[in-house]
Formats: sequence, C-alpha cells, structure tokens
Amino acid sequence: LNYLTPKTRREILELLVNGLKRLEYRGYDSAGVALDSPDGKDMAIVKKSGKVKALEDEIFSKEKTLDFDSSTDCHVGIAHTRWATHGVPSEINSHPQRSDVNHSFVVVHNGIVTNYKDVKLFLEKKGFHFESDTDTEVIAKLVLHLYTQHPTYSFRELVEQVIQQLEGAFALCFKSKHFPGECVATRRGSPLLVGIKAKTRLATDHVPILYSKDHRPHGRGEIPILPRSDSTAEFQPLEDKEVEYFFASDASAVIEHTNRVIFLEDDDVAAVKEGSLSIHRLRRTLDESHSREIITLKMEIQQIMKGNYSYFMQKEIFEQPESVVNTMRGRLNFETGSVVLGGIKDYIPEIRRCRRLMLIGCGTSYHSAIATRQLLEELTELPVMVELASDFLDRNTPVFRDDVCFFISQSGETADTLMALRYCKNRGALIVGITNTVGSSICRESHCGVHINAGPEIGVASTKAYTSQFISLVLFALVLSEDRISLQSRRAEIIKGLENLQEQIREVLKLDDEVLALAKDLYQHKSLLIMGRGFNFATCLEGALKVKELTYMHSEGIMAGELKHGPLALVDKNMPVLMIIMRDPVYVKCMNAVQQVTAREGRPIVICEKGDTETQSYAFKSLEIPRTVDCLQGILTVIPMQLLSYHIAVLRGCNVDCPRNLAKSVTVE
Ligand code: G6P
Repeated sequence: LNYLTPKTRREILELLVNGLKRLEYRGYDSAGVALDSPDGKDMAIVKKSGKVKALEDEIFSKEKTLDFDSSTDCHVGIAHTRWATHGVPSEINSHPQRSDVNHSFVVVHNGIVTNYKDVKLFLEKKGFHFESDTDTEVIAKLVLHLYTQHPTYSFRELVEQVIQQLEGAFALCFKSKHFPGECVATRRGSPLLVGIKAKTRLATDHVPILYSKDHRPHGRGEIPILPRSDSTAEFQPLEDKEVEYFFASDASAVIEHTNRVIFLEDDDVAAVKEGSLSIHRLRRTLDESHSREIITLKMEIQQIMKGNYSYFMQKEIFEQPESVVNTMRGRLNFETGSVVLGGIKDYIPEIRRCRRLMLIGCGTSYHSAIATRQLLEELTELPVMVELASDFLDRNTPVFRDDVCFFISQSGETADTLMALRYCKNRGALIVGITNTVGSSICRESHCGVHINAGPEIGVASTKAYTSQFISLVLFALVLSEDRISLQSRRAEIIKGLENLQEQIREVLKLDDEVLALAKDLYQHKSLLIMGRGFNFATCLEGALKVKELTYMHSEGIMAGELKHGPLALVDKNMPVLMIIMRDPVYVKCMNAVQQVTAREGRPIVICEKGDTETQSYAFKSLEIPRTVDCLQGILTVIPMQLLSYHIAVLRGCNVDCPRNLAKSVTVE
C-alpha cells in the first residue's frame, strides 16, 4: 500500500511481482495479483498457473489493458504465490480468490481452513456459487455475505467477523472495491508481518493494540448476526502520513524496501486506511502485551541474492565455512573452552534436572537431531529421544513436566513441528526452539532457544541450516557438560575440532570437481544406496533425502548394520552404492559391510579419511575427506552429499532451488 509518492501502475505491478519472486521458495505452483483497474471502478486480476515468471509474462502481455503508464498516488495491490493444499494447481484455484464476478472482495490466503465445507454449505444455501476447489474461496464469499448483511461495518470489522467463523490456520490479506485505498490483513497459525517504509523517522516504535468488543460464540457453520465491535478508536495512526506499507508472509519479500517490521500475532487484525495502520484484537487476554513493536531487521538484501552462483542451493552449500562460524560466534571461546548460549542460559539449571531430552523436527531438521543424538547422550548422560514431529503427534506420545523438548526447524514455521511444540507445552514441558528465523512462530512460542544464525536459506533443500543446527546442538551438549571433570578432555577435543571446522569445510568444498565427475557417472541411474553407521548414519539419511528431493531419483539411507537384514538383496554390479567409512569406533564394522557389498559384485564408492589407502583398496571409487573428531565428522561427510545431489539435479535438468511438489516452509499439517 503506497501513500508515499505517486507510482505508475507498471511500478506497482513490478513491486508486487518482485515480492512474489522473493517468496517463491515458499510455494510456487501458481500465482496471481489484484489491483484497482485503471478507472478505479473495478479490480484487475491476473492469475497464472506455474511459476511467478509465467505470471510476470502474462502481466506484461497485457500492458495496454492494464494501462501501465497511468499513475496513482494512493493504491492497494495484493499478490500471492500458491502451493496447493485444496484443489489442484490451476488458474481458477490460484489466489487472489474473489467474492463474485464484480470483484467486491478479493483475498489471498496461506494455510488451511479446516471447516471450509461447513461454511461453504451455509453460503451455498444463501445462493452463492463456487468456482474453485479451494478452501480460500469461502473466505472471499463470506466477507461479501457479511457486507450485504451489515453495509455500515468498516472493512476491518467485516474481517473480524469473518475470522470468527474460520477454523484452521491462515494468514489473510483482503482488498475490496467497496473500500478503495484500504487493506486488511490477519493471521492465525501462519506467519504474517507488516513492513513500514516512511519518508521521515517513525513517530513511535510501538503500535498500540486496540480491542474490539467480545463477540458471542457461534456454532459450526452458523453465521450469526454479530454485535458491532466498539473499539475505542477506529484508527490509531502512526504519526507519519507519507508511508508505504507491506503485508508479507516473511521479511525477504519486503527487505529491499524497508527493514522496519511488525510481526503480527495470532488473531491480530491489521488495517491500513488513509495512510494509517491500526492493529485490533477481538478480545483481551491476561498475559498479552498491549502493543506490537516495530523491529529493525538486520537482514541485508545481498544476503538473499544469488551472487555469482547459479542457484541459491549452490550458494548456500559454499557459504558453510562462514555460516558454521556464525553459529559459534560470541558463544564459544576457543581459548578458555567456555560456551554460553544466551538464549537458554537462564534455563540451564532446570534442564540439568530434567528426566530426558526430546528432539523433534521434520525432514533435514530431524536428521540434525539424529546426527547429534549420540553426543548428547554421551555428554549429558540423559536419555535422548529423537522424533519426527508428525509421528510423535500420531502416537500421542507421553510427555511430562520434567521433560525438555527441543523443536528444530530452519523456518520456525513447519506446522507439524509447531503442533508438536504446542502439544508438549500444554503438558508442561520446557520448550527449547532451535531455528534459523528470528520472529518465527516456533521462536515466539518457545520458552527459550538458540538461533542457529546460518543466514537466510532460500533453496528449498536445506544445506547450511543442517550444519548449523548440528553445531547448535553440539554447543548445547558442551554447555551441559561444562562442569563434568571426567568429560573435560572429550570437551577439549570437540572444541578443537570446532575451531578447525571452517578450514576443513573449505577443503571439502574443493572436492567439487571430483564430486561432479561422480555425478556424471551416477545421474542416469534409477537409484542410489547410501550406507554408513554410528556418527555418520545421519549423513546417509540426509544424503538420500537430498538426492530424492533434488533429482527425483530413488535413494535410501541404509544403516550399515542392517545391511544383512534385507538391503543386501538390492546389491549387484549395477546398483550404485555409496559408503561412508571413517576411522571411528565403528570402522571395523563398516569394513565388514563393504566386504559384504563387494562379495555381491557391488562396486562401492567410498567416502573415507584422507590418506586411508587401506580402505580405498576396497573401493571402486573414493572421495577423501579430512579427519575431525568422530562426533563432528558428519558435518564434513554431508557436504559431498549436498554437492553430489546438486550436480545430479543439474545434470538431470531438475529445478535445483524449487523441486517439484515441495515447499521450503510447510505451514500445513
Ligand atoms: C520441508 C522442506 C525440507 C525441510 C522440512 C523441515 O519439507 O522441504 O527441506 O527440512 O520442511 O523444515 P524446517 O523449516 O522445519 O526445518
């Protein structure tokens, strides 16, 4: 929403499309945009199935009808990129969804409305006809229905009425022909922020919350006539009038315009009218803060650009020498061996007294828990459970007040992980968030936590976040073992290992050409088996996940100890097998596995320690990796797997940064 300077329609559309491009990693099967039509009497909506580029081309093919060169000094435009949950990816199912052919109201939505069938039934009885298969369309039609019932309500009041009827998760942004120059946005469960760009300094760094009258509860599918809210003031403006506002699901979409943002909370209703922003809530709860802070983000636009790399994923792999250091920065003193995690230090006594540690996450984040479990057991001497968030919830796993539950999530928004967090919080456990996204839902809902500080990760397949999660959990293990005399030499060896990590990662990255050669041998195969055990088992799982996600090839991470219990049947001279064999406590057992493979005419590609010619003599091909402490070795062995999956994906012509059917941030269960 711009109240700053006149803009041409071309500029407005470019701004919206660029914002979508920045958000494309969140979902990308279709996209759309809505803005006022040139005469201001209607709304122009352009939607397209496929990537944002397809929408951009469509918009630019309509340069004339969209009247690119006319300018407006106050305008509202909304845009969305979709990752389908209800209804296949198509133009009709993409957002903005509209209330009617007259475009009275349009809405964009992230999340899932779980009771949409009930609302749809209600609206159908009222004569509404639905054109899409989305849950979102009910929202657009519901707001029109309420508007016809209550023509005197303000836009914000209508939205307040709407969200009381919705169950599930949403971040919503509304625009209406009946309220030109206004925009209303709200969230529950899905992330949403307001970016503020002002010509002068902002008069305040807090926006007060205004409360609406408590509304009566309603039955499912019943749309009651609700009393009108009686907020003290319709709008509580920021004093500066010349402002541009951005509503976005995350900061990457707005950071090139402003670094001043407000993270909205569940059930906040934010409205912009005549250049002023207000934030309303329906009802007051006891422990609530009475304002929302305007935060200044430190993220730089360069941080989210690709630089000289072909893909974000490639850039992120090569950033790891720096990102791992950023994770340790200010926390680990290599000289004294002291480790301080500021975000959890006050909770350490409580954590020491706990019954067990539970590590919960999805996908790559789950693998970082597997990678560090053994070290956590060793240094904390506590039972450690590692859980996939979805399965953990399915099982109604018993959780107790003296449990400490870690929620590991790059985005901090993964719905499965967030649900598991709430489940544990309700049972009184201590909640520790391990995330890469400041201000994310998991951050905000945790009692304490660690920011992994890996910097923005844009490629859908996680790389640098994995190594930083890994290190964060190692740091935690070091904190917990700080006063244990018997563990001091082990701690010292790990700290030394961490100190050398940056150099060693650089050395591993130099293997890029060798890995590319390997990728050329492998990329036409159907399958790739990746075997290992002990500290390197997580690398097998993570490597196989990377290969699957990026290359659409089948791949399986196999616990080498289980080889003889089944997977060996897959091995013959044609099946590509990759084995990770380090000189660690499971070396001898790994050597048994390699021999079981060669005895079946398998031709193993081995990742081994630098200079280990003995192990290499069993290998068909090998990659040599520098040696570090056993418990950190997984950080170095995973990098060739990241590079390998990357190169195979490029060779197979796959879209590295946006693999089909996947999204970076999965905010639905
Ligand atoms: C999605 C992504 C994965 C990621 C997982 C967990 O499935 O495609 O790359 O590992 O979510 O994400 P989180 O943000 O919670 O770490």
